[in-house]
Amino acid sequence: MAEPGRGRVAGKVAIVTGAGQVPGPGVGTGKATALLLARHGAAVVLVDNTPDRAEVTRKEIEQAGGRAVVVAGDVTVAADCERFTQAALDAFGRLDILVNNVGVSRPGSVLDTAEDTWDDLLRINLKSVYQVSRFAIPAMAATGGGSIVNISSIGALRAIGFAAYSAAKGGMISLSQEMAAAHGPLGVRVNVVVPGSVRTPRTQGAAERLGQDLGEIQKTAASVLPLGAVTHGTGWDVGYAALFFASDESSWISGQVLATDGGASVTLPAVAGLRLGGGR
Ligand SMILES: NC(=O)c1ccc[n+]([C@@H]2O[C@H](COP(=O)([O-])OP(=O)(O)OC[C@H]3O[C@@H](n4cnc5c(N)ncnc54)[C@H](O)[C@@H]3O)[C@@H](O)[C@H]2O)c1
Repeated sequence: MAEPGRGRVAGKVAIVTGAGQVPGPGVGTGKATALLLARHGAAVVLVDNTPDRAEVTRKEIEQAGGRAVVVAGDVTVAADCERFTQAALDAFGRLDILVNNVGVSRPGSVLDTAEDTWDDLLRINLKSVYQVSRFAIPAMAATGGGSIVNISSIGALRAIGFAAYSAAKGGMISLSQEMAAAHGPLGVRVNVVVPGSVRTPRTQGAAERLGQDLGEIQKTAASVLPLGAVTHGTGWDVGYAALFFASDESSWISGQVLATDGGASVTLPAVAGLRLGGGR
């Protein structure tokens, strides 16, 4: 599958969490990342708590001549997280790349976020990074190191009306810096991709559930985003940023944050039209 000039991660083994996507038009960030890693020569472990979704990704990878396996599991369950790394070692003999892509969002300020919702969002979005990484890092270190890519959100940098989600996604940046410092000596790099509001099947579904018109939201975004008038973000934009951090092209880069947001993070203030950022 790795054509000449397309082997940016050739010979490497990757885990992508949330590598499926909800049914619908467009591509999710995890699926896009998995497809790009495979297209560029990596063997990929596709993790999802709804494995049928990851099966769709696996079939697309295999039809294109790539290698992938599906592992059913929940990133909030420690025993499952241990299995993800073991699956990479069992299927492909090593682990070089981990993309922590799973994320779930709910709108709400501190005043209207119930405590169990707060706990859920912190567990799924932030604790999961700790949980998956603590098994992946020793496996990467055993073969000289690797690259961890954490998928955060514009909510980490700007208020978007999702208090718990944004707190978790901001915590992901702090945690990534700690991990970059602590595990760099083992050869493990840790970087963060910060998507703005990107068009994925999940955001289309979220708009429908909230009774919002995605076309109108995108028009609002286009009016304030530097690149909004010429392009909309998709899962591919996030996938290409993750591919860069996963590849040796970024081998001297660690602890960094790359906003993939059409310029949203340099425009103020945060706008209501971006409030779908973050998925369901
Ligand atoms: N879509 C956006 O506009 C946007 C904006 C900013 C950040 N993000 C971030 O991008 C990432 C992916 O978003 P998306 O909308 O493409 O993905 P998505 O919501 O479609 O989820 C991808 C997959 O994750 C799986 N999943 C959910 N919870 C899981 C769990 N606990 N364990 C294992 N698998 C689980 C789902 O089954 C799904 O197949 C998230 O971290 C999200 O916060 C998205």
